[in-house]
Amino acid sequence: MKKYLSKNVNQTLVLSLILAKLLKGGDVVLFKGGLGSGKTTFVKGIARYFGIRSLIQSPTFVIYKPYTISKHRSECKAKYLYHIDTYRLNSKKDAENLGLFEILTNKNNIVLIENPKYFFANVSNKKYVTIKNSNSTTRLFQF
Ligand SMILES: Nc1ncnc2c1ncn2[C@@H]1O[C@H](COP(=O)(O)OP(=O)(O)OP(=O)(O)O)[C@@H](O)[C@H]1O
Ligand SMILES: [Mg+2]
Repeated sequence: MKKYLSKNVNQTLVLSLILAKLLKGGDVVLFKGGLGSGKTTFVKGIARYFGIRSLIQSPTFVIYKPYTISKHRSECKAKYLYHIDTYRLNSKKDAENLGLFEILTNKNNIVLIENPKYFFANVSNKKYVTIKNSNSTTRLFQF
């Protein structure tokens, strides 16, 4: 784990590339940080790295959104990027019913989860990104 300071949205987008370059199919990234800390901004940066240009918004109400990877990076081998926000997910049962565990264990997928619930702790190939707000525009990232 390393610490990185971001002073604006653009720096967060640039920072996200450090992690994006390490991602492979089957990886699951868990984002922990308060409201408006920059989780979705970071996800947007990763999505762009994989050639996904569509509007990335917090999938709070839909829980998850799949995107097709159009820029294939060497050694990565993933076909889809899933953006998940489990803020409104109430139980492990709901996660099972939505098929989230199949999504998380599929080697074709890179999965980025905002506000992860405790029951994702047993998932393999996890990486954590934690974000702390220092002031209105400064964010401390750790990953
Ligand atoms: N250094 C920074 N990095 C990222 N966002 C920043 C930064 N400084 C200010 N911001 C602002 O903080 C907000 C971050 O929003 P974003 O949707 O990325 O956060 P989030 O953690 O996904 O929020 P939510 O909990 O609602 O899903 C934006 O309004 C952005 O303009
Ligand atoms: Mg968000």
